[in-house]
Amino acid sequence: LCWCFLTSLVLQFSLYGWKSRWVESKHSPDYGKFQLTAGKFYGDKEKDKGLQTSEDAKFYTLSTRVKSLSNENETLVVQFSVKHEQGIDCGGGYVKFPDTLNQEDMHSESKYYIMFGPDICGFGNNKVQVILHYKGKYHEVNKRSRTRDVINKDTHLYTLIIRPNATYEVKIDNKQVAAGGLEDDWDFLPPRKIKDPYAQKPRKWDERLQIEDPEDKKPEDWEDFEYIPDPGAKKPEDWNEAMDGEWEGPLILNPKYKGQWKPRIIDNPNYQGEWIHPEIDNPKYKPDPTICHYYNISVLGLDLWQVKSGSIFDNFLLTNDEQFAEEVGDETWGIRKDAEKKKKDSSEAMTEAAKANEETKKYTRIRAQQDEVLVETEDIQKQWRELVEELGNDRHMKEDDVERAFLDKNEVRVDQKDEL
Ligand SMILES: *[C@@H]1O[C@H](CO)[C@@H](O)[C@H](O)[C@H]1NC(C)=O
Ligand SMILES: *[C@@H]1O[C@H](CO)[C@@H](O)[C@H](O)[C@H]1NC(C)=O
Ligand SMILES: *[C@@H]1O[C@H](CO)[C@@H](O)[C@H](O)[C@H]1NC(C)=O
Repeated sequence: LCWCFLTSLVLQFSLYGWKSRWVESKHSPDYGKFQLTAGKFYGDKEKDKGLQTSEDAKFYTLSTRVKSLSNENETLVVQFSVKHEQGIDCGGGYVKFPDTLNQEDMHSESKYYIMFGPDICGFGNNKVQVILHYKGKYHEVNKRSRTRDVINKDTHLYTLIIRPNATYEVKIDNKQVAAGGLEDDWDFLPPRKIKDPYAQKPRKWDERLQIEDPEDKKPEDWEDFEYIPDPGAKKPEDWNEAMDGEWEGPLILNPKYKGQWKPRIIDNPNYQGEWIHPEIDNPKYKPDPTICHYYNISVLGLDLWQVKSGSIFDNFLLTNDEQFAEEVGDETWGIRKDAEKKKKDSSEAMTEAAKANEETKKYTRIRAQQDEVLVETEDIQKQWRELVEELGNDRHMKEDDVERAFLDKNEVRVDQKDEL
């Protein structure tokens, strides 16, 4: 049984070829346009043509219908490649498998079974989304995939495998980045075990790692009064106890004061360790062997928001054969990635060179302007000297007055003068 379907072949046809295969949603009049292109750098100009988002700050909604398929008792493999050659800052790079739907009305709220692929917004906010539909709810994967090496401009291959034994795997560039059990890494079902509601920590359970040493005693001569009565103070002669109350002398800092006494801290000899709440089987948990069985996958969609456009999607594959998917990945993304990288490096070198050239021109232009300013400055300085000489005989003339006279004469605005 193989219901593999390979749109990369379709995409290699012609501009009209992809347009007849893919349907643009008309749900909103303002969706961004996709275009068919291999982009600025590629391994092969024809074979690497894919669907590129072409307008900034837009929603994109596009889909294609496939022969209806079910993954009951079968492995499901979803694979595609995406190249964020624009250097994506915030946007989606994922595919969705909507419920059977009217493609012309597809939108971001359309019900879907699976959403899979990179989702990027800002530094450190990169993840591979794997959202799976189960009993009317969307469940996001709890485990993060390692994505550090793939947030760049190169084409990367994304693969999701869901197996009938309820295990899954996420691969990037044909290397595993996450794997495990569907039940463990999504909250589809209530947990298998819960804390025993009848179990209680014994009242005398000793969780204190360290205690005050009960053997430690305060020394007899420990001075813990911070202030003492001043021994040098004398009751005034005319102190009348009946009128003034009992005489209390002034206080002074106790020179022998040692601070508050505290017993030393020792390891608790009766430490019992942290109390662990015993667990029991959760009565609410019922295994469901049909988790992630999708009986009617028939549309593959792109439903994205992109701030900076330019992502190119290609090599879409839907199959039940893990091995086949790996081979297709190797024969598309795999054999052309090095050539693409080389092209990218030379394209970036060219951009750099153009930028440097532009900088040189700008610098030359600024230098030319500076020379003009310099000539002007010399001219003005000459006038200044002449003016000082002219007024120089009058010794009472202050510097500011020279300046004011100078400004009047030349109509130089103050901010310009500041620069001189
Ligand atoms: C899937 O497996 C179950 C259990 O073996 C079986 O009852 C069911 O008919 C199978 N479904 C298909 C579509 O083969
Ligand atoms: C699930 O199936 C895969 C592939 O057939 C196998 O490698 C894996 O060991 C299985 N895992 C479990 C928990 O059955
Ligand atoms: C699958 O989709 C087709 C086409 O929309 C529909 O006729 C069929 O009833 C669906 N089957 C299931 C099991 O939902």
